[in-house]
Amino acid sequence: MEVCIYRAYEEMSRAAAQLVADVLNAKPNAVLGMATGSTPLGVYQELVKLHQKGEVDFSHVTTFNLDEYVGLPITHEQSYHHFMHENFFRHVNIPPQNIHIPSGTTTNYRAFCEWYEKRIVECGGIDIQILGIGSDGHIAFNEPTSSLSSRTRLKTLAKQTIDDNARFFDKPEDVPIYAITMGVGTIMESKRIVLLANGAKKDQAVAAAVEGPVTSMITASALQMHPSTKMFLDEPAAGKLKMREYYDWIQYHKPGAPRV
Ligand code: GLP
Repeated sequence: MEVCIYRAYEEMSRAAAQLVADVLNAKPNAVLGMATGSTPLGVYQELVKLHQKGEVDFSHVTTFNLDEYVGLPITHEQSYHHFMHENFFRHVNIPPQNIHIPSGTTTNYRAFCEWYEKRIVECGGIDIQILGIGSDGHIAFNEPTSSLSSRTRLKTLAKQTIDDNARFFDKPEDVPIYAITMGVGTIMESKRIVLLANGAKKDQAVAAAVEGPVTSMITASALQMHPSTKMFLDEPAAGKLKMREYYDWIQYHKPGAPRV
């Protein structure tokens, strides 16, 4: 894992957006893995700005979202369909038929999950996957004890996640209990991964994911086994990392690294 620590959320978001834009500029028909939650909002805003300046084009891009709540219609304000449309898709030029978000209202979840997995493969696999991290160390909705080789499936949310997400709903009892989510195994097949985390509320999850043992108790720790994951952190989210000096030292020396 490469760990990059930024002074502020805005700087972290700009750097991560630039990496995504570089991937899209090198491969205009790239497959982009999208995440929801408050953390990637800054990256989406930056990508929209780059698009408006003509510095990145999405007209050949295909996207796959990580997850969706079960039972929320796509028009519900807290559905991930709505979130993605409002915060990203309506501001860029991705052809609507290239956008994939798990269905939270299908009548056959098993068949839908199989189709979603197959569709990712048909599109050539995910070139770069954006991830946030839950305060319990989850990625997408892969809650503690999720198999590290899990695939897209229906998942029961942990109490901690329901409590964390209650802030977005009128009443805590409105938070859905189930979600459909890409599995850890699905995510691990992405060619590159960008994990974003900001704020002190993520410091423990980040430290466990980066420096703890690989364990299904912290599904983000599986990324230690991924060949190309970059963590974009702000200072508070990096607050509990023991190897902080080492990460800074590497970043400091990187620009002058010998070209091989
Ligand atoms: C949800 C999403 C995750 C996201 C997490 C953190 O659980 N399924 O993909 O990483 O929330 O959200 P936030 O970025 O708002 O802290």
